[in-house]
Amino acid sequence: MSSSVRQTKCRILQHECDGNFRRLVFEAPEIAALARPGQFVHLLCGGTHDPLLRRPLSIYRAEADQVAVLYEIRGRGTALLAEKKPGDLVDVIGPLGTGFTLPDSPTQQIVLVGGGIGAPPLSFLASTIAKSFGCERLTTMIGAQTAEKHICADEFRGLSVDDNACLLATDDGSCGHSGLVTDILRERLKSESLISPMIYACGPTPMLKAVALIAKEYHLKCQVSLEAKMACGVGACMGCVIKVHNGGGCKYVRVCHEGPVFDAEEVVWDE
Ligand SMILES: Cc1cc2nc3c(=O)[nH]c(=O)nc-3n(C[C@H](O)[C@H](O)[C@H](O)COP(=O)(O)OP(=O)(O)OC[C@H]3O[C@@H](n4cnc5c(N)ncnc54)[C@H](O)[C@@H]3O)c2cc1C
Ligand code: FES
Repeated sequence: MSSSVRQTKCRILQHECDGNFRRLVFEAPEIAALARPGQFVHLLCGGTHDPLLRRPLSIYRAEADQVAVLYEIRGRGTALLAEKKPGDLVDVIGPLGTGFTLPDSPTQQIVLVGGGIGAPPLSFLASTIAKSFGCERLTTMIGAQTAEKHICADEFRGLSVDDNACLLATDDGSCGHSGLVTDILRERLKSESLISPMIYACGPTPMLKAVALIAKEYHLKCQVSLEAKMACGVGACMGCVIKVHNGGGCKYVRVCHEGPVFDAEEVVWDE
């Protein structure tokens, strides 16, 4: 494990149900000091080693001595995690993986494109961008299945200079644009209300692939945060590999170690 990664038993400070999601805050000063947007923590969800494998969750906030994650219950691991109460300990390894790379120039337009549970790391990124560069050039576009499944929308609105800088989409039309969040991205680029923005995206793989294709079409720089099923989470087991372009060929890289954030043009999307 790298010297910039910690494994610690962290005291849970808050654990709240927020609609379809859970917000878990734990005390982890060393992880908080090192964490960057796009990195994740690997948690033991049960009391002992059941389930044996940790579960990866993106860092949603890292402030002072606290780290927060936002998650939805998908299966056994996250269901067991949801039973933990303030005062309990949770075994955490982190911060893991690469984070997003911030733009070099404060004058660069920035677009964040999120889908579903991909929103929390983008919320952390948005607040970091706001602190470094201000919000004037920041646009967020977030999609979800329904209005109830929108996550962090108020935070994105709070960082927007006006209504055009925070755009929501839902599959069922219950909030914002009715359809895909990538429809909004394409429309904004076509109408030239966004000029050569840097794109950051996190969400389901089909959405990331669509964003990558749009970025390629418009010759835009784009970083995507990928999901993969993980075992060790620290680069040792090769259980999370994906294919990336390498010269004229391809090679395998680990999502937990070389990722989860990649340049969109690096990724081989068709498999
Ligand atoms: C880098 C990274 C960051 C993540 N950040 C978050 C986050 O901030 N919030 C959040 O809610 N979830 C996040 N996830 C997904 C989260 O790790 C899985 O939902 C969790 O591991 C499921 O564990 P489980 O035991 O509850 O479900 P399981 O019983 O393991 O699986 C339940 C269902 O979820 C699917 N699944 C399990 N793991 C993954 C995965 N990694 N990617 C896609 N599908 C999966 C399974 O195929 C199955 O259909 C992240 C995943 C990665 C790789
Ligand atoms: S999960 Fe083991 S190498 Fe990535």
